[in-house]
Amino acid sequence: MKRSFIREILESIDEETISFAGGLPNSLLFPVDDLKSSANNILKKRDVWQYSLSNGIKSLRKKIAKEYCKDGFETTSDNILITTGSQQALYILARYFEEKSIVIEAPSYLGAINTFKLNNLNIKTAPLQKDGIEIKAFEKVFEKAKLTYLIPDFQNPTSSTYSKSKREKVAKIIKKHKGIIIEDSPYSELFFEEKNKSISSLIPNNSFHLGSFSKTLCPSLRIGWIRASKELINKLLVIKESIDLHSCGLSQHLLNEYLKDDKKYQTHLNILRKFYKEKSEYFCKQLDTYLPEFVYNKPKGGMFVYGEFKEFDSFELLNRCMKRKVVFVPGCEFYVKNKNPHEIRFNFTNSSLEDITKGIKIIAQEIRT
Ligand SMILES: Cc1ncc(COP(=O)(O)O)c(C=O)c1O
Repeated sequence: MKRSFIREILESIDEETISFAGGLPNSLLFPVDDLKSSANNILKKRDVWQYSLSNGIKSLRKKIAKEYCKDGFETTSDNILITTGSQQALYILARYFEEKSIVIEAPSYLGAINTFKLNNLNIKTAPLQKDGIEIKAFEKVFEKAKLTYLIPDFQNPTSSTYSKSKREKVAKIIKKHKGIIIEDSPYSELFFEEKNKSISSLIPNNSFHLGSFSKTLCPSLRIGWIRASKELINKLLVIKESIDLHSCGLSQHLLNEYLKDDKKYQTHLNILRKFYKEKSEYFCKQLDTYLPEFVYNKPKGGMFVYGEFKEFDSFELLNRCMKRKVVFVPGCEFYVKNKNPHEIRFNFTNSSLEDITKGIKIIAQEIRT
C-alpha cells in the first residue's frame, strides 16, 4: 500500500508554495463568527462532553434527513448514520463489503481507491465521460460485481457530472441486477447552476448515499454521514462502533447548534456557490490565456478543473514546477490501471486570484522552456 500522493505533496510544501493540489475549501469562507457563537451556546452544557450515540445525535440526524425530504427523497433520522467525515463512511462500507468486487469510475477519488485496496476489494473500472460513466462498459462489469462506487456530482478528480439520462440508466441497471450503489456526494451542494437528483433517490433500497460538511462548511469538524435503509444502517453500526464508538460529540453538537438557523446555512451555501463559480471562471480564463494547449471541460460545480496537455508528461512537469513552488496533481494518481500520463487535476477553490495567475504563468513558462 502506498500513502496518498496528494497528502504527501501537501506535507512537502511550504507557505510560499502555490498549491493547486489538495481539494481544500477556501478558509476565507468558513463562517467562523457564526460557528464561534454556536460554540459559545453549547460549551457550558454538560451532555456535550459526554459519550454519545453511535449513530450520531438525533437532532443532527433529523436535520440531515430533512434536507433529503426537501429534495423529495423520503428520509428519517433512522436512515442516517453520522460518520467521522465521509472518508470514514467509505472505510465502514469497505469493511462491510470486504473482498467483494466493486465497479468504480476511471479516474476516481484516490481516498476511496486506497480504502478499497486496504480492505481487499477487487476493483473493476469503467471509463468516465463528460456526462457520466460509459454505460455499456459499466453494465458489463456491474452485472457480475453487483456493487459500484460512483461520484455523480462534480466528481473528484474530473468535475464531470452525470446527465439526467445517465443517472436513470445507471439506476435501471442497478435495479435490474439487484445490485448496490455507494453514491458519494460531498460536492453536490456546490453547484453553479442547478442541483441534480441523486441516483440513490431513484433506488432508495439499493443505495448508500454519502454526504459531508467538509466542503460546504469546514473539514476540521470531520462530520459526514451515510443515508441508507434502516436495516442496512443497523448492519453498519457494528463496524462503526468497533472503530470509534461514535463521531466527535463536540463537533456534532456544534454543527447541530449552527444548523438550528437553516436560513444562515442556506445563505452561506449561496455565498460559497457564487464565490467558487467566479473562481472557476477566473481559473479557466487564465488557462485559456496562458496555457491554450491544456484541453479540459469547464466545471459546472465542485472544486476542480481536470484535463490534459497532450504532449507533456504531467509528473515531469510537476517536478519542474515544484522547484518553482507550484504544485498540482498528475491524473495518473486517480487511476487503478491504464494510467494516462498527460492528465492533471487543478484545484481552483483555495488560491487567491493573484496566485492563480502567478501559478499558471509559471506552469506556462516551464512548458515552453
Ligand atoms: C469524493 C470524495 N469523497 C470523500 C472525501 C472525504 O471527505 P471528508 O472525509 O472530509 O468528508 C473527499 C475528500 O476530498 C472526496 O473528494
